Amino acid sequence: MIDVGVLGATGYTGVELIRLLGRHEQVQLKFATSRSNPDRSLAQVFPGAPDFNLIDPEHAALEDVDLVFLCLPHEQSAEAAAAALQAGTRVIDLSAAFRLADADTYRRWYGQRHPAPELLDEAVYGLTETERERLVGARLVANPGCYPTTVLLALYPLLLESAVSGQVIVDAKSGVSGAGRTPKLASQFVEVAEDLRPYSIGRTHRHLPEMEAILARWSDTKPRLIFSPHLVPISRGLLSTLYIPLRSDWVEPQLHDLYLETYTDEPFITILPVGEVATMRQVNYSNRCVIGMTEVDGTLVVTAAIDNLQKGAAGQALQNMNVVFGFEETTGLL
Ligand SMILES: NC(=O)c1ccc[n+]([C@@H]2O[C@H](COP(=O)([O-])OP(=O)(O)OC[C@H]3O[C@@H](n4cnc5c(N)ncnc54)[C@H](OP(=O)(O)O)[C@@H]3O)[C@@H](O)[C@H]2O)c1
Repeated sequence: MIDVGVLGATGYTGVELIRLLGRHEQVQLKFATSRSNPDRSLAQVFPGAPDFNLIDPEHAALEDVDLVFLCLPHEQSAEAAAAALQAGTRVIDLSAAFRLADADTYRRWYGQRHPAPELLDEAVYGLTETERERLVGARLVANPGCYPTTVLLALYPLLLESAVSGQVIVDAKSGVSGAGRTPKLASQFVEVAEDLRPYSIGRTHRHLPEMEAILARWSDTKPRLIFSPHLVPISRGLLSTLYIPLRSDWVEPQLHDLYLETYTDEPFITILPVGEVATMRQVNYSNRCVIGMTEVDGTLVVTAAIDNLQKGAAGQALQNMNVVFGFEETTGLL
């Protein structure tokens, strides 16, 4: 049994995580924080959420828990992670604070100095399926971004075999909860309803360096991405469609076998039969990633769907916790 705390409990990922933690028999939630609503119940602040008393982050006894989950904006996460590690507590950070390997890249993409650059080397990138060995016992886990989770899982089998021959185009769609609960004009109902909006297209989205850095670790071919995310007027769900130029010696049945073999023992990854497509409805409210594929004239078209708040955030964070502490990986997630 371990004791955990959640910082930033009133946001979408925080609430999702607290719901999941309630189903985990080896975890006790000790505190959940909110700056704006301390001393209220989570259920009062977020209708339908578990009835758990919130506290001010200043009063969080970091040293009394084994692990804290950071469901905060990245600036606050970096500082909170440093404080938690100083107190001897492990950290799983859902923000982007520790996903990039170096402080210069962070500064370029996030427009500010990294508040704790000395911790970047230690952070383990928490794409569970590909980083399991490094996650065991890790002190600091950088949970992946939601878009990168789909894109990286969709490309991993091909990269291991260096089967990609050039630039990959990613057309991705996310529900509005991906933008968080903190109010912003661009995610208000009237702004998003009955619209389908591309944003940060091409090579301008902050998830681009995160994805390309991991791809470069897997293969010398280092494919470049053109990445075009879209905001869809639905509450949750994320779907990426990838157009992947293939080396000429790969054919469709071989590729399908490659995906099946790579993910054969993975409890949360489903490879569809050739020609079938992944959809958001197949994964919503689950920690699964569903992947479909079809080959067209030397281009592999891969669809990959997740629930952005589960496999894209809180679910994968819990999966990582299970690996870090040696629990059965599916506990609390099935
Ligand atoms: N939403 C997704 O699908 C998703 C997916 C992957 C990763 N993420 C990342 O996960 C983190 C949390 O995302 P979210 O969607 O849950 O965000 P959110 O809904 O906006 O919630 C943010 C939380 O942080 C607290 N907070 C806000 N500003 C703060 C500040 N300046 N100092 C301290 N606490 C502050 C908020 O509550 P109080 O103000 O009451 O403290 C709230 O509990 C972000 O870094 C996000 O990029 C999100």
